[in-house]
Amino acid sequence: METSSRKPCIVGNWKMNGSKQKNFELVEMIKRTVKDAYQDVPTLDLVLCPPAVYLEQVQTLIQDTSFKLGAQNVYCESEGAYTGEIAPEMLVDLDCLYVIIGHSERRQRFGETDKLIARKFVAAYDAGLIPILCVGETLSERKAGKTMEMVESQIRPILEIAPGDAFQRALIAYEPVWAIGTGISATPLEAQTVQAGIRALLTETVPQISQRARILYGGSVKADNAEALFKQPDIDGGLIGGASLDPQEFLLICQAAIKSMSWNK
Ligand code: PGA
Repeated sequence: METSSRKPCIVGNWKMNGSKQKNFELVEMIKRTVKDAYQDVPTLDLVLCPPAVYLEQVQTLIQDTSFKLGAQNVYCESEGAYTGEIAPEMLVDLDCLYVIIGHSERRQRFGETDKLIARKFVAAYDAGLIPILCVGETLSERKAGKTMEMVESQIRPILEIAPGDAFQRALIAYEPVWAIGTGISATPLEAQTVQAGIRALLTETVPQISQRARILYGGSVKADNAEALFKQPDIDGGLIGGASLDPQEFLLICQAAIKSMSWNK
């Protein structure tokens, strides 16, 4: 059977949840369920993104696995008078490999602009991290027929300043704002339509890497909808919020992503 050439990726975004005790229990459960099922997960990139203060703890907990560590945010400068911020080099120093950039909660609640997000992306990329760029439209933008326009307006500033092959390493996560934390996922067709549009934008601007770029879907991914989403040709895995805090749900979502490798996508 023909297999997809893009390795699936599942990213658990814990958001502002956890404690030392809860993190320990959650990671141990994920290790037991996921590792028992797959003898570790070489066919899947599995990334855990705890709050920044717990990165070091989680790194220690996953060091005997192939799971990867990710941060939820980063700043665009290497050092200096930026109280409260974290430099990309500091994440690298903690063996953190991935970083979520431009999550809609950061855009909406913390006023992050496309321009700032583009600078963060390039700083993270230059430091050697794997940025996960989040894009997506609000419900009113969707209703106004502006979904693709919004998504493009969030990606183009990055294409303008990032190296042409950045998305060979970096990922894009399409996350419709109305689907995040609401229990209302985009349908597989809705998500696929936008994600095919994102790949078409990459083909137009950076054709040499567009078929290799990985595009995740995020927004109320659960065990019972993961398989139908990951079956879509341009959905290469998921950015998982709520369900990443439940080891059983998370395991089933990982299973769906691993299965997707063998589908003729
Ligand atoms: P959700 O969150 O899975 O809880 O909808 C996804 C995200 O915000 O990344």
